[in-house]
Amino acid sequence: MAFVERVFSGVQPTGNLHLGNYLGAIVNFVKMQETHDCIYCVVDMHAITQGVDVWGGPAELARNTREVTAAFIASGIDPKKHIVFNQSQVSGHAELAWILNCIARIGWLNRMTQFKEKAGKDRENASVGLYDYPVLMAADILLYRATHVPVGEDQKQHLELSRDIAQKFNNDFGDSIRGHGFNDGLFFPQPEPFITGPATRVMSLRDGTKKMSKSEASDNSRINLTDDANTIAQKIRKAKTDPEPLPSEEKGLQTRPEADNLVGIYAALAGVSKHDVLKDFGGGQFSSFKNALVDVCVAKLSPIADEMKRLVADAGHVDQILIDGANRARAIADETMRSAKNIVGFIRQP
Ligand code: TRP
Repeated sequence: MAFVERVFSGVQPTGNLHLGNYLGAIVNFVKMQETHDCIYCVVDMHAITQGVDVWGGPAELARNTREVTAAFIASGIDPKKHIVFNQSQVSGHAELAWILNCIARIGWLNRMTQFKEKAGKDRENASVGLYDYPVLMAADILLYRATHVPVGEDQKQHLELSRDIAQKFNNDFGDSIRGHGFNDGLFFPQPEPFITGPATRVMSLRDGTKKMSKSEASDNSRINLTDDANTIAQKIRKAKTDPEPLPSEEKGLQTRPEADNLVGIYAALAGVSKHDVLKDFGGGQFSSFKNALVDVCVAKLSPIADEMKRLVADAGHVDQILIDGANRARAIADETMRSAKNIVGFIRQP
């Protein structure tokens, strides 16, 4: 297969990026820059799929879009070597989503667990956009014919749907695809999810069985990327634990979700394994481990928070990064859309 390896991923600008977003996604985005051409997108069109009361309105959306952009850059994503932009500036996302809407089947979308969770009990009142969200996500990826998609575990099902859509497009239009010079009959690749790192699932600091989430009521349940050192220290000191000392072996963490979570966070931030963490802290009390955890958290996150603050204060600069990224993204997207329109049979200006 002749697809050039390319990374694409997206983060929604829906407020308060936290440690879960950082360790589950952004850290991998940074790493993949070394080996691939990467496109990182602030998916503002996905962000408006729930009620305006949920996403906060126009001023909030713009603020959050700049904040996610700032988080990318402060974490080490290089917007000159790679592409950072916001989705709505490249019209190909919406255009390709329409074509893919006519490929995806209602039965496929009805299986999406994230829709069921987000729509809740009152499904009749959910927006059509929320239902269609996974098709727009497939369009995001396929618009750049991306092959590698670093995501959190919760996005696995959406990635599978993207693969099904790509495959059905290739099948349905096989002859036309070959007729337009793609001799192997493959226009879209099968994008692969990349779910890696020691902390792909960061759990709530108040309940080790629940994912860390921006929607949990208590702010003490999460560490936000913009928290200052004192706030981080307080939240970690208050984090739920159990009365036993830390185990010396990893298998001792199996039935202790809070201990497992804190050890996982330490390992991920320090760039070591859980095994290594337990070699140093196994048998000890949580209090001394928590002090060390505060130190790594502050050492890793404070410089990011400071840089984010600096960037967000200069909205013009951040906007220029997004405009420049969108221009480069559009060049790739336009090429895909030209071929996609030819393949479908849409007449266009040559
Ligand atoms: N749905 C993803 C999430 O909530 C965000 C997203 C939108 C995305 N488009 C994407 C992720 C394309 C990867 C690729 O995390």
